[in-house]
Amino acid sequence: MTIGQLRTFLAVVRNGSVRGAAAALFVSEPSVSAAVAALERELKADLFERHGRGVRLTTAGEAFARYVADALGMLEQGIDAARDAARPGTGRLRLVSVTTAGEYIVPRLLREFRAREPEVEPILEVGNRAFALDRLVAREADLGIGGRPPQGRGLAGVRILPNHLILVAAPAHPLVGRSAVAVADLSGETWLMREQGSGTSAATEEFLAGAGIQPRARLMLGSNGAVKQAAAVGLGITLLSRDAVALEIDAGILAEVSVKGLPLRRHWYALYLERGALPPAAERFLKFLRTRAAEPGNERSRPARRRRSPG
Ligand code: PGA
Repeated sequence: MTIGQLRTFLAVVRNGSVRGAAAALFVSEPSVSAAVAALERELKADLFERHGRGVRLTTAGEAFARYVADALGMLEQGIDAARDAARPGTGRLRLVSVTTAGEYIVPRLLREFRAREPEVEPILEVGNRAFALDRLVAREADLGIGGRPPQGRGLAGVRILPNHLILVAAPAHPLVGRSAVAVADLSGETWLMREQGSGTSAATEEFLAGAGIQPRARLMLGSNGAVKQAAAVGLGITLLSRDAVALEIDAGILAEVSVKGLPLRRHWYALYLERGALPPAAERFLKFLRTRAAEPGNERSRPARRRRSPG
């Protein structure tokens, strides 16, 4: 069994077909099939079965895939650890972040960290919460930035910054400018939602259900940018991280709606797998985040400057 065969096997799992794996690895389809066949011979078990135009894992394949992802992820981490030990401070920092933190929080943190460690090589992937958690669990990233760690996936989390979710709308929206709007008044509004798998969307659904709010309609838009633009042009109201809307509120493009029970006071966490050691660069970044979180002034969310509504 070779590392190459295992990488090929995982590529088939992740792409759902031999063709997809071959394209992702820049190799021929017969070489992918040969690698999988060699593993199947050695394990004396079929790893894939046909499914539509692609393939899916058999039960044996599923059992094997978890260990392969873990083993190859640990190997990557070991390679990083060795490189960092040979040339201290130069290691790779494989990060994954949920969309909102990736766009509005992580760049600033990386700038501060790189000022201390100019030779560290950050690689940041950004996707919604579901994506980010999958990357961490598969050891495709060493450290994640996102909301509270989920139960039952072997992930630990360290609180690093506040994350307050606020309700925003176009400045001309009738709810803007009223003080302490009751949640009952939010029923009958059109709510703009992030896509499935987004932490913001899950938090919004939880808030709507908990407060008994019945939206007139829910419109799903696939990014913070699309949701903000839609709110700005008056398509509806939306709950977003204050970090994501601070600039638009400052610029008068969006306005905060003051609602009893809001903001939702949450936190950003540094997330990592409980099992196994972090590579040195990730360990140092985590230490930097912990120290930074403990500094006075970092425990409060930055309130967006309020604008007087025009007129
Ligand atoms: P999201 O995650 O950017 O995927 O919505 C934000 C969060 O988890 O709070």
